[in-house]
Amino acid sequence: MKNLNYPNLHKYILSLLQNLLIDDPHIEASILLKYFIKEKKITEDSNLSLSNQSFLLEIMQKRSLGFPLQYITQEVNFYKSKFYVNSSVLIPRPETEILIEQCIEFIKRNKIKNPNIIDIGTGSGAIAITIAKEISGSIIYAVDISKQALDVAKINAKNNDVVIQFIEGDLFGDIDCNFDIIISNPPYILTNNIKNLQQEVLYEPVLALDGGLDGMDMISKIINIGINRINKNTSSGIFIEIDPQVLSPLRKTLSDLPHNFKYNIKNDYSGYPRILSITT
Ligand SMILES: C[S@@+](CC[C@H](N)C(=O)[O-])C[C@H]1O[C@@H](n2cnc3c(N)ncnc32)[C@H](O)[C@@H]1O
Repeated sequence: MKNLNYPNLHKYILSLLQNLLIDDPHIEASILLKYFIKEKKITEDSNLSLSNQSFLLEIMQKRSLGFPLQYITQEVNFYKSKFYVNSSVLIPRPETEILIEQCIEFIKRNKIKNPNIIDIGTGSGAIAITIAKEISGSIIYAVDISKQALDVAKINAKNNDVVIQFIEGDLFGDIDCNFDIIISNPPYILTNNIKNLQQEVLYEPVLALDGGLDGMDMISKIINIGINRINKNTSSGIFIEIDPQVLSPLRKTLSDLPHNFKYNIKNDYSGYPRILSITT
């Protein structure tokens, strides 16, 4: 790390990322450089102190072990906002933006006024907070079984200036009202597939990933309880992000739905079945 100064910082970070065979090394080098400069208040004429050099080295070592970029910078762009993240929460993914778009489109198309909404397994709060910003007058409950995740979600709600009822609990928590919208991106990876996930994903909380032996543990509960918890006298819907691997057991659950419900499965950007909607 000798002679490391501002002008050669970008080159230094880039070459390390290229050696690590990172997918988009140029983009990532710019993000890491920006983060480092901001965090350590580095200016163009700064000589890097030893402590700043070791901070940079520490970041790069974490990254070389597959620690996700977003956990290092503690920030992710999602939908139209920035969200704070740490390793207590899943890093929100682009697929989840499609889940939200479907849900918002349904609320608007059916002109549901002041919808009562529950986000089950809120994690960073990305779903609940995005809907709160897009649908004015919505009343939103966000449940998670992880207190650490809820702490992150509360920071994001404050940063985004929205009011959400956060509840620590299992599935629907102890909320006793019914809902116009039930939305969730539940853990849906098959237990036996978790060990085959990319190294980076393995840094995310197992509670956010593990969907049980067939991936359906939480999905079936949300559907089976959810059909009795949505408002029957208005248009209402259950929106769930799924993994293509749960399709076979999911089809069985869907075939048992009462006749007054219809369902649809929409593909993600890669053409995989990803968003289940069950509507009245
Ligand atoms: C896949 S993550 C989704 C996080 C966030 N909603 C998102 O889309 O980025 C699933 C979340 O469900 C939570 N969770 C797992 N089991 C739960 C349960 N039984 N009841 C409520 N939340 C649960 C996990 O703690 C985790 O935050």
